[in-house]
Amino acid sequence: MPCHVAIIMDGNGRWAKKRGLPRTAGHAAGAETFRAIATHCKNLRIPYLTVYAFSTENWKRPEEEVSSIMFLLEKYLLEAIEEMAKDKIKLCFFGDLSPMSGKIRKLYDETQRISKEYDSEIQVNICLNYGGRDEIIRAARSCAMDCMLGRLEPDQIAEQDIEKHLYSTGIPDPDLVIRPSGEIRISNFLLWQSAYAEYYFTDVLWPDFNEAEFDRILKEYQTRERRYGGV
Ligand code: IPE
Ligand code: IPE
Ligand code: MG
Repeated sequence: MPCHVAIIMDGNGRWAKKRGLPRTAGHAAGAETFRAIATHCKNLRIPYLTVYAFSTENWKRPEEEVSSIMFLLEKYLLEAIEEMAKDKIKLCFFGDLSPMSGKIRKLYDETQRISKEYDSEIQVNICLNYGGRDEIIRAARSCAMDCMLGRLEPDQIAEQDIEKHLYSTGIPDPDLVIRPSGEIRISNFLLWQSAYAEYYFTDVLWPDFNEAEFDRILKEYQTRERRYGGV
C-alpha cells in the first residue's frame, strides 16, 4: 500500500462541457468526488492524501470561474469542519492563502484549531494557490535568510534544509501521483516531493473518477518496481 497518494483533480470543465453544463457544475461534481475518494483512502488506511485544488496559475482563468471555485471552497470547508472530527480526517493546506478571501482564511484557522483536538486516521492536504516552483522559491528564500542570520552556511545547504521549509515538511514524499483527465503533465504539482513518485495517468475525468478506478490504479502501482536509482 502506498503511504502517500497525491492527485491532480483535473477534468472538471470538460466533464461539464460534455453535458452542456457550465464549468462551475463540473467543479461542484469534482468536490463530491474528492469527498468520496478521501473517505475511500481513509477506509484503505492510506495515511496521507494530497490533492491539487487550485494552482498559482489558475488565477489566469476568467474572474467568474475563479470566484465560483472560491465560493465552492468556502462551502466545502464549512461542511468539512462539521464532518472532520466525526470522520477523524485531519485537513491541512499547502499554498499561499494570503490572497484568499477573509472567509476562507478564517475557515482555515478553524480547521487548524479543530484538527489539533483529536487523533486523525488520515491527513488530507489540500493544495490551494499552490505551485511547486513557488514552494521551492519560498524555501530558497528561507534558507538565504538563515544564512544571513548566521544559522546556516551556504555550502552546507542540504536536502533537509530545503525540506524543512516546504509546505509538506514532516510528511513522507508521495509514492503515487495520479492525474485523471488525459493530460500527461504535472502542471507544477509537488515538483520537489515527486522526485521518485510513481505516476499514473488516466483518461477518466475527475468528476467520473471513483473508488473502483482508484483500486485499479493501486493494483497497477503494486506491480511497479521502485529502484530509486539502484539496481
Ligand atoms: C480542474 O479542472 C480544477 C481546477 C483546475 C480548479 P479543470 O477546470 O482544469 O477542468 P478542465 O481541465 O478544463 O477539463
Ligand atoms: C492543474 O490543472 C491544477 C489543478 C488541477 C488544480 P490545470 O487544468 O490547471 O492544468 P493545465 O493548465 O491543463 O496544465
Ligand atoms: Mg484542467
